[in-house]
Amino acid sequence: MRINGQQYRTIWLTDSTDVDDITDIKIKSVSIIDQTKLPHRFVVTQINMLDQMVVAIKTMQVRGAPLIGAAAAYGMALAVQQDGSDASLESAATHLIHSRPTAINLRWAVQRMLDVLQPLPVARRNEAAWFEAAVICNEDVELNRMIGAHGLHLIAPLAAQQSRAINILTHCNAGWLATVDFGTALAPIYAAHDAGIAVHVWVDETRPRNQGASLTAWELAQHGVPHTVISDNAGGHLMQKGAVDMVIVGADCVTLTGDVCNKIGTYLKALAAFDQNVPFYAAVPSPTIDWSIEDGVKSIEIEERDAREVAWMTGRLASGEIAEINILPPGTKVANPAFDVTPARLVTGIITEQGIYAPHELNAMQR
Ligand code: MRU
Repeated sequence: MRINGQQYRTIWLTDSTDVDDITDIKIKSVSIIDQTKLPHRFVVTQINMLDQMVVAIKTMQVRGAPLIGAAAAYGMALAVQQDGSDASLESAATHLIHSRPTAINLRWAVQRMLDVLQPLPVARRNEAAWFEAAVICNEDVELNRMIGAHGLHLIAPLAAQQSRAINILTHCNAGWLATVDFGTALAPIYAAHDAGIAVHVWVDETRPRNQGASLTAWELAQHGVPHTVISDNAGGHLMQKGAVDMVIVGADCVTLTGDVCNKIGTYLKALAAFDQNVPFYAAVPSPTIDWSIEDGVKSIEIEERDAREVAWMTGRLASGEIAEINILPPGTKVANPAFDVTPARLVTGIITEQGIYAPHELNAMQR
């Protein structure tokens, strides 16, 4: 992704730092784009230890299922750098897995790191951990690039029939910022835009944390893709008016049967899309699929986040100062489920790196 004309990924290895001239011990650290500061400030933060990575995931400095997976892999590498013992590996895995419960990519990445590291002698674990985390990141980039290429085949034929821009509605942020690069839901949109197809994106603001308004709008603007931010409640109305050609969302977990767990509010968009015959797609790399779950509503753990996210909003004041304001009467009770599950019957298709599948055909994917 390009930010102010410069090429970035959302997470990268920072050059080794000499900490001891005599023994020539070098430590590695990881750089992330702090997403809690966007869109008002672009801040790169350096993560040196496992605990910092756990905090970065919990506080959503890094977020989005594929990026959480990549961050967890680097978290494991940071832990091994501190202490490569079995006990350290197990403790790091537990801390990381509990940092955010819903995105399956996190558990997937931690397990993959354990599978690689546990059979090795302690002395070889450090190098192997950094290597494997980098492989996970590179794979994520390639999976998302392929999602873009497949998703383009949904947009291009529509565009060929129209003399206007194709209107795509998306929810939350499933773009570059939610992955290592390219994004999932936004990958087909970037591919279409780069192929010269006119696309316009309806961006749900995505309360309570406003990932759509603050992150999706920011990254679409960086790429020059036309877009309009709408309140979360506007999507159904726009579909009724014929102003939405398709919906594409990302996912934090998809079941074997094609149920799609994504940011809270996705289900309502799918219901409206179904009622209005608007195609509803989830764009999903294979590490987001939980092959062990059939019923997403019953089985996927839905993260309950802090009430503060609903009660308080962050923004820039007219003075330019970034401030938090409370929008609720004092003492008001708040519930804050972070995700919901859209049943497969409302999903037109799942765009994966292997192609586009009807939800009930997902099982045919290579694992
Ligand atoms: O709570 P978040 O911001 O991590 O939720 C992110 C989403 O719901 C995304 O849509 C999902 O992770 C897919 S990201 C490619």
